Amino acid sequence: MSQTTEFTPSGQLQLGVFFQGVNSGTVWKAPASGSQTDFESFRRIAQTAERGLFAAFFLGEGLRLREHLGRPHALDVAGRPDAQTALAALAAVTTSIGLVATQNTTYNDPADLAHRLSSLDLLSGGRAAWNIVTTDNAWTGANFRRGGYLDHADRYTHAEAFVETAKRIWDAWNGDGTVRRVHHSGKHYTVDVTPRLPRTAQYRPVLFQAGDSPEGRDFAARQADVIFSAHPQLADALDFRRDIVERTLRAGRGANDVKIMPASEFILAATPEEALEKKAWVRSLQIGPEQAIAYLEQFWGRELQGYDPDGPLPDIDPVVEETSETRGSGFHGAKARQLADQWRAEAAEKGLSIRQFVSAKTSRGDSTFTGSYTEVADRLAEYARTGAVDGFNISPWLIPTGLDDIINHLVPELQERGVYPTQYAGSTLRENLGLATPVRSAAGADAPTVTAQA
Ligand SMILES: Cc1cc2nc3c(=O)[nH]c(=O)nc-3n(C[C@H](O)[C@H](O)[C@H](O)COP(=O)(O)O)c2cc1C
Repeated sequence: MSQTTEFTPSGQLQLGVFFQGVNSGTVWKAPASGSQTDFESFRRIAQTAERGLFAAFFLGEGLRLREHLGRPHALDVAGRPDAQTALAALAAVTTSIGLVATQNTTYNDPADLAHRLSSLDLLSGGRAAWNIVTTDNAWTGANFRRGGYLDHADRYTHAEAFVETAKRIWDAWNGDGTVRRVHHSGKHYTVDVTPRLPRTAQYRPVLFQAGDSPEGRDFAARQADVIFSAHPQLADALDFRRDIVERTLRAGRGANDVKIMPASEFILAATPEEALEKKAWVRSLQIGPEQAIAYLEQFWGRELQGYDPDGPLPDIDPVVEETSETRGSGFHGAKARQLADQWRAEAAEKGLSIRQFVSAKTSRGDSTFTGSYTEVADRLAEYARTGAVDGFNISPWLIPTGLDDIINHLVPELQERGVYPTQYAGSTLRENLGLATPVRSAAGADAPTVTAQA
């Protein structure tokens, strides 16, 4: 681990692909759309990404379909295969790309998850990663035996104990046929385990983190290798980098130790004009009339089916109760009326219909790179030069062909500008991301050592 206090841009970018199952960004109803559950969709995207030397293939996690007023939320796609199962299958049809599983710390158990991630890491030859999330809604909690839902502060102390325990499990093999037992007894867990797998080709799975609060950022600064951030705009990305470097140094790590890859979407074409036309078309597919109404219903907490998607925002007020961050992905009930007033004023001022307003709200304006291949390559080269980010995690708006133009046209432009690899740096994800081998955690040093069974 380097203890460098000055951050130095690497001048390079890495790309990842974020295959989203549940969202308002992927178009599942266009003629070229594949299936969200068919392995062919996963295989096609992963192999295309690998052809473009992408560092990582990324799967999100949603352990329960969101519901609203007793029916599945219209923006959700039913069918999201378990991430580690899908990634294990992909390991067999790819050779170099990293395989990132989003897994939450709130509803898993550390010894079990550490073992399953080690398994993926071993079977893929050192290509596994864990995107650590805490999961912010009680819908998910209701699915689990322990039920309920942890409040924000607790979710991160819980996550910290979880990750520390997982790291000790991964550190436990000594490389000489002996293994340390791992004991952990704390507020959240009691674990007593003799780890069942040796270290992997990249020592242990790479750790990503996604969560943006101050607590989430400090957690990442202490524990993560890479942050999956929500800050892709250049000025914002530079601020975020400064903030993370400060937090990383405060955590006793080096200024370059935590990589940053923001979520992003690319709408590209041969000319800027064509790209803008394409963007309008993509947006119209992403938010249809039903999606627009369903989106508002999340926030209003009530049926809005009688409202015209091409008319103004609903004049009735939201139901002020627990609609809310403790239930789904909306916002807290108490703020509902305030937000509705604000949105109505904003839509009236700009003359936007429900559909136009929702389209603007969900447009990921902040995270969309629209333009010609050369234009966008020039913009990205600036990110590499300034060190604002270490790469981008791209959500294709079309599955499974949505990466084709990026691989065929954008990647060569980036390579020409010297900011993108021309081959994989190594065989493990850690090597390909330019991450150092972890230093063994001191936490387990005193645990008894036992001889491993063959
Ligand atoms: C870019 C990004 C991607 C995320 N992906 C997931 C996901 O796939 N599954 C999940 O349960 N939570 C996901 N989260 C949510 C985080 O786990 C976390 O619960 C949420 O951001 C609230 O924590 P915070 O207040 O620290 O931001 C994601 C968050 C971010 C910023």
